[in-house]
Amino acid sequence: MAEKILVGADHVGFKLKNRLVDELRRLGYEPVDVGPKSLDPADDYPDYAKPVAQAVSSGEVQRGVLTCGTGLGMSYTANRFPKVRAALAWNEQVAELSRQHGNSNLLVLPAQFVTEEQGVNILHTWLETNFEGGRHARRVEKIDQ
Ligand code: RB5
Repeated sequence: MAEKILVGADHVGFKLKNRLVDELRRLGYEPVDVGPKSLDPADDYPDYAKPVAQAVSSGEVQRGVLTCGTGLGMSYTANRFPKVRAALAWNEQVAELSRQHGNSNLLVLPAQFVTEEQGVNILHTWLETNFEGGRHARRVEKIDQ
């Protein structure tokens, strides 16, 4: 069964989000687009961050993807949810380390600072990289202690 991945954005991340949804589908995942479904320059990032972070936090899905202009608003919001480790990744190395060391379960992309192509490459790296465990597992566990 295809893994369900929730994806959301605000108006700044809207175009990149659509590209990521297409890419996830092409890769064989089951992307669930929480919106926005059309471009609304007045929308607010928490309205899209919350449903994605909530689904990851509750275990309803394993992973989520969010994008806004800087990626910061999405990160602030998503990381308030227990068990969510939202990683703001502006290049592939950050995405890779966020998985290897932090076991990130939510990828945040800064749409104003990456091209669509870079965003797709960062997504690939993030999806394909495994958590290393070991000493990193101890540290990740301490986040919630
Ligand atoms: C929206 O204007 C902008 O603030 C948002 O996309 C993001 O950069 C917030 O962190």
